[in-house]
Formats: sequence, structure tokens, C-alpha cells
Amino acid sequence: MFKEKIRMLDKKLHIRFNSVGEFNMPVGKRDFNGSIRKNLLAFCEKLKNKNVEFINEDFKKFKIDNLTPEDFCYFDPPYFLGDASYNENNNWTENDEKDLLKYVDKLNEKNIKFALSNVTQHRGEKNNILIDWAIENKYNINYLDYNYNNSNYHSKSKMNITEEVLITNYSI
Ligand SMILES: C[S@@+](CC[C@H](N)C(=O)[O-])C[C@H]1O[C@@H](n2cnc3c(N)ncnc32)[C@H](O)[C@@H]1O
Repeated sequence: MFKEKIRMLDKKLHIRFNSVGEFNMPVGKRDFNGSIRKNLLAFCEKLKNKNVEFINEDFKKFKIDNLTPEDFCYFDPPYFLGDASYNENNNWTENDEKDLLKYVDKLNEKNIKFALSNVTQHRGEKNNILIDWAIENKYNINYLDYNYNNSNYHSKSKMNITEEVLITNYSI
């Protein structure tokens, strides 16, 4: 049960699990430290006073029938690109990616605002499924950060580019 609780909170606190699901591991340079512990406790306190429901299930099972244009949907899925961090031990497949994009289209058809975090390119690879989908549907691709680890822009440095985006069906 403790593990389930922490797993729910990983959305906020970047606690993650390895492929066996037993150990937590830090994302990037973050580790579970005193400051994160403090945030975790503050987060738990806030939850007690708010009407929040956590649902731990496949996004495809989450019914959108009850959602209205008053709702807002934020997606932070695993990245499809090969060795991008967060690709969940390669468990996120092309089918998952396409299913998610279709799901998001349904929200758009119902005039529900959405925002989808992702990377359009990472270490020399491009996510053309995502890019083509966003362009074809005239969604807004908001570029968040260009991360050039090597300031010399020669061919090798392309391997270090990560293009982070927030795709929305509204203007920011
Ligand atoms: C990029 S991480 C989200 C990270 C989190 N928002 C954070 O800031 O730490 C992607 C999440 O998608 C979840 N996930 C993977 N497949 C899923 C699916 N089919 N339905 C719903 N969530 C899924 C993973 O368990 C993981 O927590």
C-alpha cells in the first residue's frame, strides 16, 4: 500500500521505479532528499483538505463522456523516442503513442482544452508521429527549451539536442 501511495505521488515528486518495480530511482540529477521529503509531506497535508481523486489506470479506460469544455486535461506521457529518459523501460509503444494522440483528438472535438508535454526530438531522433499529428491538426507546438550540451553547433552536437514541447489546442 505504501508503494501505491508513493507511486501516485510520482506525478508531483519525481519518484520512480525500476523495471522490476521494486526500487525508486531519481530522475535526472534529482534525488530523494530533505527538500523533496518536506514537499512530499506538505503535498500530503494539502491533499487532506482538497477533493482530489487519484486514479491509477490506463488512460484509455478514463471516460471522457463526463468532461465538458470547463475541464482542462494535461498529459505527461512517457516519451516515445528510443532512449529518451522517461520512456518507461521501453514499455511505451508506437500503438500507445497513436492511441494517446487519438484520445487527445477526441477531447479537442469536444472543445476541451488540453496540454501535452513531450519531446519532438532527442539525440538525433525525431518523433515524426507526434510532429505530423500536431501539424495536421493545427495544434500549437510551444517550444520550451533548447538544450544544447555542446555550444559548438557541429554535426556531433545534434546528438545532444532535446527539443521539449508543450502541445496545446489553445494559444499560450
Ligand atoms: C513522463 S512520466 C510522468 C511524470 C510525472 N508527470 C512527473 O512529473 O514526474 C509518464 C507517466 O505515464 C505513466 N503511464 C505509462 N503508460 C500509461 C498508460 N497507458 N496510461 C496512463 N499512464 C501511463 C507512467 O507510469 C508514468 O508515470
